Formats: sequence, structure tokens, C-alpha cells
Amino acid sequence: MKDIFDECQFNDLKLKSRIIRTGTWETETEEGGFLTPAIYDRYEKIASSGCGLIVSEIFALDAKDRFYPYSTNLNYRGFIKDYQMICDIVHKYDVPILGQLAFFYYDDGINQKVEANDITHEGIRKLQAEVIMAAKKFSFAGFDGIQINMGNNFYLARFMNPYFNQRTDEYGGNTENRVRISSEIIKVIKKTMDMHVSCRINPWDVRKGGITADESIAIAQELQNAGADSIQLTARTISQIYDKGVKHPFLVYVDDLIDALDIPVVLGGSLREMNAINDVLNHSDVEYISMSKPFVAQRNINLSKL
Ligand SMILES: Cc1cc2nc3c(=O)[nH]c(=O)nc-3n(C[C@H](O)[C@H](O)[C@H](O)COP(=O)(O)O)c2cc1C
Repeated sequence: MKDIFDECQFNDLKLKSRIIRTGTWETETEEGGFLTPAIYDRYEKIASSGCGLIVSEIFALDAKDRFYPYSTNLNYRGFIKDYQMICDIVHKYDVPILGQLAFFYYDDGINQKVEANDITHEGIRKLQAEVIMAAKKFSFAGFDGIQINMGNNFYLARFMNPYFNQRTDEYGGNTENRVRISSEIIKVIKKTMDMHVSCRINPWDVRKGGITADESIAIAQELQNAGADSIQLTARTISQIYDKGVKHPFLVYVDDLIDALDIPVVLGGSLREMNAINDVLNHSDVEYISMSKPFVAQRNINLSKL
């Protein structure tokens, strides 16, 4: 019988519960080059809530990115100093923390919004170098790892999606090729840094010609083979878990994904009540649950009272 508050080994990280506070921007960005006290306070409350792992809010790669106005930019003056303090606060509660990187647009130096079909090999190398430098920065600040958001409609999600990527070189075509830009990044991070690498991916794409559920499992396997330490799914509402004893299709997909991988998988989306969470834990192979909005709605949340 699995319980929310089981201590568990999440690959290389030790967690004291199965709940992960997932990436959540709160538009409280730094002011005048440094974080405000409210942000330190927020992280302390999350760390003391009983959660097992924290994923930070999105850090944008570039100040011109679409998500920059909502999130903290990785390149502001006080980033390392500020986040060293955040990581120290969180670590006081024996909770590991991953820095989340996500970008919607990429500026290759020629085109501010270059898309998968048009980026040159030099552009790909520049992008990969910037993501690897972001991981280095997270590492300097004391984060236990990086989560690269390659889900939703973020750049790397579009790059691996056949709906957007029609390249004819080694970065397009089959699954391995479309994931290659991400796999190469992961390989370098794992070879050069002691960092957990988590990848947030989509379970499938509703667009005709987009990623299917089977391909998303193949993508996760590619990422695992490159060295990814865990996979987190982007959210899908699973409020109706069983219908007359038949599992929700999303739970069937997650079980297939977990079967196909040797690394931990995190599931989330509309899970915020203890009975429902324990039900998912004990009627599927799911071992880790993520939550976002409950931490925003209840600043002093205590997970043992869900
Ligand atoms: C205000 C807000 C900000 C979010 N920010 C992020 C983010 O920075 N990174 C991310 O991966 N997902 C982000 N999400 C998505 C959440 O991580 C999560 O997948 C979604 O809210 C569903 O989970 P929940 O039902 O537990 O809230 C955000 C969602 C909301 C509502």
C-alpha cells in the first residue's frame, strides 16, 4: 500500500513524500535586480508544507521571451546570490529543489523567433550551449537539478513534434532525430555536472499529425537513454478517475509510460484531495503526484491536512 508520506528514492534524490510542488510562476519577479522578501517567504512555506520536491517557477532563457513578463529571468544581476539563499532555505527542510527552464521563442542571432524548420546547425549549437549554461548557473546557485520544460507548446516541445518539425537532416524525421536537440543537451549536462535532469513532456498532442500517446512514450525512452533522471507529464485533468470500475484513459497511458521506463514519472493535474491522491497511488503504477494551484490558493498549506 503506497502512502503520500512514504519516504522514497526519486532516482538520485531522497524525498520525504510523494508530492511534488510543480513549476508555478506567480508574477512576483525580482525588483531592481534582487528578489523581494515575499518570494523567500513563499519558498519557505512550500518547503515546510510536507512536499517531497520543489520545482521552481519557469526561468526564461531570454528577456525577449513570451514568458519573461510572468517569470524570473535567469540572467538578472542577483540570480545566483538570490537563489543560493532560496536553495539554502528549502534545503533546511531536507527538500530538494529543481530549477525549471522553459522558453517559447528562440533568438538564434538572425531571427528573434526562429522555428524548428529554419534554425541552422550553428543556431542549434548556440541554443544547446545556452541551456547547458543555464544548468551550470542552477548548479552554482545550489539547485539539485534542472527541469527542462519540453511540454506544452514550448520550443523544445514544438521541435520534437512532427506537426512543427519537417526538417530533413539529423534533427528531423524520426522520433530519435526530433528529440536529438534535447538528448544532446542532456548528455552534456549529465557528463559535466552532478545535476538531476527532469524533463517535462506532453502525453500527446490533439493536433492532427502531432505526437501520439505511443510516440510520447518513445520520446520519454529517448530522453531516458540520453540520461534523463525523471519525467514529469504536463497536466491533464483526471478528476474522473474511474467510471463504473473502468480506469480513466490518462491513467492507462501513465501505466504504459511507467512500464516502458526505468526512471520515475510524475503525474499531476487537478489532484488536491488526499483520498483521490491515495486512490491514484494505489490503483495504478503512479508513485509521484504533482500539485500547483493548491500551493497558490493556500499559502500556509499543510499537506497532511489535504
Ligand atoms: C498561474 C500558473 C502558473 C504556472 N506556471 C508554470 C510554470 O512556471 N511552469 C510549468 O511547468 N507549469 C506551470 N503551470 C502549470 C502547472 O505546473 C500545472 O501543470 C497546472 O496548474 C495543473 O496542475 P494543478 O491542477 O495541480 O494546478 C502554471 C499554472 C498556473 C495556473
